[in-house]
Amino acid sequence: MKEQLEQIKQSALAALDAASTPAALEELRVKLLGKKGELTAVLKQMGKLSAEERPVMGQLANSVRASIEEKLEKRKADIHAAALEAKLAAEAIDVTIPGKSVSIGHQHPMNQVLQTIKDIFVGLGYQVVDGPEVELADYNFTRLNIEEGHPSRDRSDTFYFTDDDSVLLRTQTSPMQIRYMENHKPPLCMLAPGRVFRKDEADATHSPMFHQIEGLVVAENITMGDLKGALTTIMRKIYGEDAVMRFRPHHFPFTEPSCEMDMQCHKCHGTGEVDGQVCSTCHGEGWIELLGAGMVHPKVLENCGIDPEKYSGFAFGMGLERLAMGRMKINDLRLIFDNDIRFLNQF
Ligand code: PHE
Repeated sequence: MKEQLEQIKQSALAALDAASTPAALEELRVKLLGKKGELTAVLKQMGKLSAEERPVMGQLANSVRASIEEKLEKRKADIHAAALEAKLAAEAIDVTIPGKSVSIGHQHPMNQVLQTIKDIFVGLGYQVVDGPEVELADYNFTRLNIEEGHPSRDRSDTFYFTDDDSVLLRTQTSPMQIRYMENHKPPLCMLAPGRVFRKDEADATHSPMFHQIEGLVVAENITMGDLKGALTTIMRKIYGEDAVMRFRPHHFPFTEPSCEMDMQCHKCHGTGEVDGQVCSTCHGEGWIELLGAGMVHPKVLENCGIDPEKYSGFAFGMGLERLAMGRMKINDLRLIFDNDIRFLNQF
C-alpha cells in the first residue's frame, strides 16, 4: 500500500506539472482527490490493515493528499499568471507607431458660394428666409401674374403632383416673393435661397434640380436704378471689382420692366472660342446668363395687398450653380452634383 501511495503521488505531481489550463487542472483534481478518485480508492482499503499499520498509512495518505493539494494550488497560480502575462503582451500598445490621421471634410463649393452671398446680403440689410419646395400653383404661377396657358406652366417643363396641376415642385423661388409679402409690409428686403425643379436634360449648364436665390426689395421710391446698383455691387463683391456684366431687356410676367443680367464667360473671356473651338461653357455666346430681374409688377403687389401707387420694388432670381461656376472657375455644372471627391477636394 505504501508503494501504491508513492506511485499515486509521483504520477499525480507529474500530471499536474503537465496540465496547462484551468480546465485541465479541475479535471485532475476530481480524478485525484474526488470521491471516485484514486486516493479515495486506496483509503477505502485501510480497513484491511493491522492496528499498527493503519495510523502509519493514514499519515502517509494525508501527506500525499497535502502534497497534491499544494501542487494543485501552485499550478493554478502559475497558469493564471501566465495567462495574464500573455494577455498583457497581446494588448500592449506600441506608442511609437504613427497615429491615424482623421480627415475632416469641408463645405461643398456651392455652399461656400451660398454662404458668401448670404453674408453679403445680410450686410446689406436683407432678411434670409426659407420656403417650401412642394408649392401650390397659386403661389408658383397665378399670384405671380402668370396666366393659365402660359408656356412655363406646361407639363413638359414642370413636375406636377396632381392631375389638376394645383400642386408642384416649385420651378422658381419667386413664389417666396408672394409668401413674404403676405406676412411683411414694406419697407422690406428679403433673400430666399433654395432648390427649384424643371424637366431639363442635364448638360454643362442645365440640371433638373438646381438652386436659385430670390431677392425682393419693396419700399417707397424704389427705381430700376436701385436694382442695377444693388446687383452691380453684389456681383463686384462676388467676382471682384473688375467683373464684366451686362443687362439685357427681357420679359417676366411678374416684373415690368424686366431684364436679364449676364456675366462675361470666365472660360473664353467673352470671345466664345477656346483654342479655335466653340467654348463649351457658354456655347460660344461669350456670356453666361446669371439672373432674371425687374421691377415688381403692380399686379403682384396688389395680389399681396400692397398699394402699387405708394410702393414700388425690384426683384431678382439668380442661379446659384452658375454663380458658383463663375466664381470657382468650374466648366461643367454636372461636376457640382457628381460628388466626386477628387473634384470636391480642390476647393
Ligand atoms: N423666377 C425667374 C426665373 O426663374 C427669375 C426672376 C426672379 C425674374 C425675380 C424676375 C424677378 O427665371
